[in-house]
Amino acid sequence: PKTYNVVMIRHGESEWNQKNLFCGWVNVDLSDRGKREAVSAGKALKDAGYRFDMAFSSVLKRANDTLYAILKEIGQEDIAIFKTWRLNERHYGGLTGLNKTDTVAKYGEQQVQIWRRSYDTPPPPITPENPYYDTILLDPIYNEGPPRNDFPMFESLELTIKRTLPYWNEWIVPEIKKGRKILIAAHGNSLRGIVKHLDQMSNEQIMQLNLPTGIPFKYTLDENMKPVQGGSLQFMGDPETVKKAMEEVANQGKSKK
Ligand code: 3PG
Repeated sequence: PKTYNVVMIRHGESEWNQKNLFCGWVNVDLSDRGKREAVSAGKALKDAGYRFDMAFSSVLKRANDTLYAILKEIGQEDIAIFKTWRLNERHYGGLTGLNKTDTVAKYGEQQVQIWRRSYDTPPPPITPENPYYDTILLDPIYNEGPPRNDFPMFESLELTIKRTLPYWNEWIVPEIKKGRKILIAAHGNSLRGIVKHLDQMSNEQIMQLNLPTGIPFKYTLDENMKPVQGGSLQFMGDPETVKKAMEEVANQGKSKK
């Protein structure tokens, strides 16, 4: 039977990951470590012999720059790239710009865990008092969408999935089914949405998943876009490194010990 591989990656560490700030739709750069992670990811894909026909990304430069670094490493800077706000990180609403550890100190680990990882509890909405309200709304990267009358002020994972999945189904799946080799460079929570969908994870199961920065992963899908036996979430990195990187992400929402 026919199977299809699709490779995805969460961007390398961003400057705001490094400072441990809720980021969402703010368009920040990769940190130096994040740039190195992106190059390493490219090297790993190159060593494993990966070639791609087209790539998808968000409109945020931390994901775009991760993609460019990979394509440079594998010598495929010329392939078609499609960017969409629908693959953006989840909009972190009123938490945008806050330090995650400070937020734990103020609201407790449990509340922060709910804001970060629950399926349907959204963060509070962003308000004009937030220093990044205009930064986001006036950023030209959003000129092509979302529509002004439907511009998010916050997103739960559920709402993120509602705008990511239509793009996955309408634009990415048809290309996979044509046999095109696809690379997707996106974000922790937009990719958690795709993973939840592909693996038909429950709202509780997806809470436990923390995607590490800069480590590519592969899905092997059947013709119905269901993972084959052993085909879901295969990280390209040694298991110990992957585990540590996942724990690091989880710990961003823990109090300082
Ligand atoms: C952010 O937007 O702050 C991160 O990219 C994802 O954050 P999270 O791991 O706290 O959901």
